[in-house]
Amino acid sequence: MNIQQLLSQKISQAMVAVGSNADALVKPSAKVQFGDYQANGIMAAAKKLGLPPRQLAEKVIAQLDLGDVIEKVEIAGPGFINIFLNNSWIAAQNELALQNDKLNITLPEVPQTVVVDYSAPNVAKEMHVGHLRSTIIGDSSVRVLSFLGHNVIRANHVGDWGTQFGMLIAYLEKMQNEHANDMALSDLESFYRQAKKMYDEDAEFAEKARNYVVKLQGGDEYCLTMWRKLVDITMSQNIATYKRLNVTLSLADTMGESIYNSMLPVIVADLKQRGLAVESNGATVVFLDEFMNKEGEPIGVIIQKSDGGYLYTTTDIACLKYRYENLHADRILYYIDSRQHQHLEQVWMIARKADYIPESLKLEHHMFGMMLGKDGRPFKTRSGDTIKLNDLLDEAMQRATALIQSKNPQLTGDELKEVVEAVAIGSVKYADLSKKRTTDYVFDWDNMLSFEGNTAPYLQYAYTRVLSIFKKADLTASQLTGKILLDDDKERALAARLIQFDETVAAVANEGMPHLLCAYLYDIATLFSSFYEHCPILNVESEAVKMSRLKLAALTAKTLKTGLDMLGIKTVEKM
Ligand code: ARG
Repeated sequence: MNIQQLLSQKISQAMVAVGSNADALVKPSAKVQFGDYQANGIMAAAKKLGLPPRQLAEKVIAQLDLGDVIEKVEIAGPGFINIFLNNSWIAAQNELALQNDKLNITLPEVPQTVVVDYSAPNVAKEMHVGHLRSTIIGDSSVRVLSFLGHNVIRANHVGDWGTQFGMLIAYLEKMQNEHANDMALSDLESFYRQAKKMYDEDAEFAEKARNYVVKLQGGDEYCLTMWRKLVDITMSQNIATYKRLNVTLSLADTMGESIYNSMLPVIVADLKQRGLAVESNGATVVFLDEFMNKEGEPIGVIIQKSDGGYLYTTTDIACLKYRYENLHADRILYYIDSRQHQHLEQVWMIARKADYIPESLKLEHHMFGMMLGKDGRPFKTRSGDTIKLNDLLDEAMQRATALIQSKNPQLTGDELKEVVEAVAIGSVKYADLSKKRTTDYVFDWDNMLSFEGNTAPYLQYAYTRVLSIFKKADLTASQLTGKILLDDDKERALAARLIQFDETVAAVANEGMPHLLCAYLYDIATLFSSFYEHCPILNVESEAVKMSRLKLAALTAKTLKTGLDMLGIKTVEKM
């Protein structure tokens, strides 16, 4: 149980003892003078009971078991209960976190099988900035859930099927005939563009392409081989990009649209049989009363076109069924941009109506907004093209090289390379992770590569600063002895925030909102910085105080490192 839960439980028990079952609403306090946490539920509870709130607060407090956790409580304003934690208890929690390799974080009693659907680029296209958010935020979620011990299944729902493959195969064939060995696929983007151009301009080519679609769908060997080539080349490029980005997706996590092919006709037939799908103008359609168009008529979701083709929706219905039946998912998180929200809702509703999945399966669309340029418009190149992810990362490397070389000219060779890479990739990722994912955000090089503010370099640097103290002291965390003492306000403020790592991680795991973790780590780095300014660590007479402060420093480093790991951001030993 994390602290917030523990305090909620204590207050709730006291409330029950005085006849209220209302929510205690325990939250961290916004200001030190309001204590560490406050219970905000008394006012609503008092209203229900017909009592003056402060009077109810008195009664609740009288019943409250402080234990060794709570130092004191105070009633404030109309009936808030301010909770002050006991210093020795805080120190003891810090000790536990320091000793435990999971930082004493509360692990779920029953781990779940969680499918995380993220990244999902398309075959024969290069990854562009549009895939960045899903890839980065999804991977952070994966890391947090794995840390907690859940059985996490990474599902890379790659767009590897559809009518465009006729044209791509025909074009690949043409390229192969023309340059024997040269695959001409190294530049996927122009490959796709050329294929499309040819399809639009050359009737004979278009005819061939259409023919290949039919053959591919019919399982023709030649077409399948060509298709596989396209998939393999694209995925090997994507895997290289994931590696560059320090994203945990591997080839084995690829679960492209094509794997659901054989399920599609069965599903369409089944939905018809259940009376959910009907024929409409030659197509097969599911009408959903829950979605109305402007005319107030139910929206029809097409699951099979009149030419027999299946759609993105049909595949996602099959995919959902598969994730439940074959992967035994308890929870599925979709990291897909907000424009696909209605699509997902329709898929889920159809699958639920058809009883493909039980009520207990939790489906969550962890949507996100767009990346904008400094002008507030969608982030594009000057000529209006989408920005390729690899070009973006190249630029990050260049900028980070200049930055690090100016900050620390002594760094050279491999050491410089390691720092530059950590800062470059870390900055791009952190800029994304630190913004609330549901909103659009402005991509701004200067902000993200700054050593001040809530940025990757600031946190990475804060980490190296703590390490340098240990280097100077010629000690490691495991050699520290004695107790943590919290006599100074700055020591206490840092220690009290350190114990909230547990509930922060829980919030990220529940809501898939890594910006909460970023804000927390930034707080820790800032609190450490003012602690370090006010409380000398090595130049202090008392050995006991020195040890205690080193312990706080060690836990700070451990928390920063673990937190940055959860975000997929690398740390270095010195910068
Ligand atoms: N490939 C799709 C795109 O680029 C995203 C797929 C997301 N996942 C899903 N299950 N629909 O837009």
